[in-house]
Amino acid sequence: METEKKTQTTTEQMTDRDLSEQIKKVTKDSHVRAENTELMLSFQRGQVTLTQYKLLLCSLYEIYQALEEELDRNSDHPGVAPIYFPAELARLESIEKDLEYFYGQDWREKIVVPAATKRYCHRLRQIGKENPEFLVAHAYTRYLGDLSGGQVLGRIAQKSMGLKSNEGLSFFAFPGVSSPNLFKQLYRSRMNSVKLTEEERNGVLEEAVRAFEFNIQVFDDLQKMLSVTENHLLNSSTYSKSVKTLPIS
Ligand code: HEM
Repeated sequence: METEKKTQTTTEQMTDRDLSEQIKKVTKDSHVRAENTELMLSFQRGQVTLTQYKLLLCSLYEIYQALEEELDRNSDHPGVAPIYFPAELARLESIEKDLEYFYGQDWREKIVVPAATKRYCHRLRQIGKENPEFLVAHAYTRYLGDLSGGQVLGRIAQKSMGLKSNEGLSFFAFPGVSSPNLFKQLYRSRMNSVKLTEEERNGVLEEAVRAFEFNIQVFDDLQKMLSVTENHLLNSSTYSKSVKTLPIS
């Protein structure tokens, strides 16, 4: 394992001072927590349901809309320009396609957004305005995640929901990226080329931990929403079965 790490470090020419190494290190525990949320566990067990996935897509739509609007608006900012890859990474149109597949043409009227998702988007818009150099932390968390574990999750989701090859799963496909691993290397080297003061660097690292936290809260909120809906349905079916015999008061 140690040798493997050394080899990787040599081939990618990385040092402990590199942002890509530091960001991975500071978010390591958060990654474990994200993987262990109920929603992510459902994915890994191959038990993700259509309802779970449809709800997740709604949140991802809001998140990527905010993230990509802020990246576009700040694309000339020195902290954003090196990691700005809309042709390769942008997810918004793919998510729109998937939402249309699952919800129909009037999907915009049907999407449901939990409070945690709104908070995450609010933060993205705030830093887009006040600290664009922190956007790299959010872009890293989402896009490198999508290009890593996300690739496996896409295949699992397809099987779990019994979907035909790519139907409703455009979100997971990156037609502009022929090798996710090579692209991740390029992305890391671009991250490392961003000039940051010590204070800004610490800010980016803190923001990355926060980005993971936002994602965890989105997943938890979504699960909570589902359990409330399920309980509600359960109770209402109990109620409708018993309504004939019970007085309403
Ligand atoms: C990297 C798995 C959830 C963000 C990775 C890698 C794997 C993985 C195998 C590659 C590790 C490496 O190359 O060293 C998973 C699984 C997940 C999951 C199985 C859930 C079922 C998430 C979530 C996020 C995320 C929810 C963030 C929202 C990342 C990031 C990386 C990554 C940013 C890149 C790390 C780096 O190379 O710096 N993940 N992941 N992952 N994942 Fe996840």
